[in-house]
Amino acid sequence: MTRSTAAIILAAGKSTRMVTDLPKVLHEVCGRPMLAYVLDACRGAGIKRLIVVVGYRKEDVIAAFQGEPGVSFVDQAEQKGTGHAVMVCRDALADFEGDVVVIAGDMPLVRSETLELLLDTHQSRTSAVTLATAVLPDPTGYGRIIRDKYGNLEGIVEESDCTPAQREIREVNPSYYCFDKRLLFEALDQVRPDNVKGEYYLTDALHILVGRGHRALAITAVPPEDAMGINSREHLAEVGRVMQNRIQRRLMASGVTIVDPPNTWIDVRAEIGRDTVIHPFSYIHGRVRIGRRCSVGPFAYLRDGTVLADDVVVGVFTELKNSTLGSGTRARHLSYIGDAEIGERVNIGAGTLFANFDGQRIHRATVGSDTYVGQGAIIVAPIEVSASAQIGHGTVVKKGHGEAREKG
Ligand code: UD1
Ligand code: MG
Repeated sequence: MTRSTAAIILAAGKSTRMVTDLPKVLHEVCGRPMLAYVLDACRGAGIKRLIVVVGYRKEDVIAAFQGEPGVSFVDQAEQKGTGHAVMVCRDALADFEGDVVVIAGDMPLVRSETLELLLDTHQSRTSAVTLATAVLPDPTGYGRIIRDKYGNLEGIVEESDCTPAQREIREVNPSYYCFDKRLLFEALDQVRPDNVKGEYYLTDALHILVGRGHRALAITAVPPEDAMGINSREHLAEVGRVMQNRIQRRLMASGVTIVDPPNTWIDVRAEIGRDTVIHPFSYIHGRVRIGRRCSVGPFAYLRDGTVLADDVVVGVFTELKNSTLGSGTRARHLSYIGDAEIGERVNIGAGTLFANFDGQRIHRATVGSDTYVGQGAIIVAPIEVSASAQIGHGTVVKKGHGEAREKG
């Protein structure tokens, strides 16, 4: 990147079709709010200044992202269109010179490589505005890209304003733009809401620049899958599926075996070491860390704060939360392990439960290394079980009582 670059991320819309009380961009995709992916893609492309346009339930969006490096917020109190959403950023960028990437906050599949290519093209060819477009089998819902007979970009027509012939065009605008900042705001001054929807269209800024003879480029650089925006719960599930595939492919490339990818769900925040095997129907949610050569599942449920060292076995119908299992520890069948610190080479017998909640508070349990926990034990926290203890089948291990017995 040769010129300084800022990004404007459009995230003010209410999203009627989601039928939601939560701002759309806070809906989660594989464990993170969709907006987080867009911000990461911008950062990955080297963009350090990130302006998020907020409107509908803005307090919630601000609360979720406040304090993140480079992120600031601009309030678009009334949503009068994508052009208007950019106009309201004028003051926030008053001291800025360079290029501005504009992108929608509801497209979490965006990749930094695409944004890098967009920026490189824009800057190496000193363009006034550059778009990255996608060619889709079904272009319904998107603005269509209009090119002249030489392939030069002429403009974008919204679906609602398309002629029947334009509707057939399959090259679409997924809203990845890069503008020269000064020209962008000059053009926006001229934009009027004279269209079917009565909105200020950002795409009209592009038309104004083209009309004035400025260089406008469109590169077909967005893979069709990435162009999927989220406007409904169905889209949320579809995008989630694509993201899940990406997460699993990344893990497999790093040496993790996933026996049955479509029947496995792994949070984007999970870290898994090489030669670990994830068996079918396992659900790994939250910040979970799994070491090397572990075996997880089938039917395991690992929740936030689970840490497995190396060579750990977590088997069928076992749920873990906020717990650490030392290396070589095994919990093969039907257990609940919550808020526990378990040492190395511990055997957790089938059906063992950690009673971590007394109705008021959560308590922690610790179990020393080389302990044998018999089947159907109940370990009542708070408690510390010493190393090499033997806990008989069906034992209820309680503070005082249990500790005395296991030593005797
Ligand atoms: C826009 C594009 C269209 C493109 C499509 C998908 C325009 C005029 N059209 O249409 O060419 O194919 O996106 O990328 O830009 N937003 C605000 N404030 C507003 C209006 C929108 O922040 O006042 C945000 C929305 O929350 C959303 C994004 O901008 O994240 C896109 O807005 P949306 O209304 O969905 O635009 P489309 O009609 O889909
Ligand atoms: Mg849209």
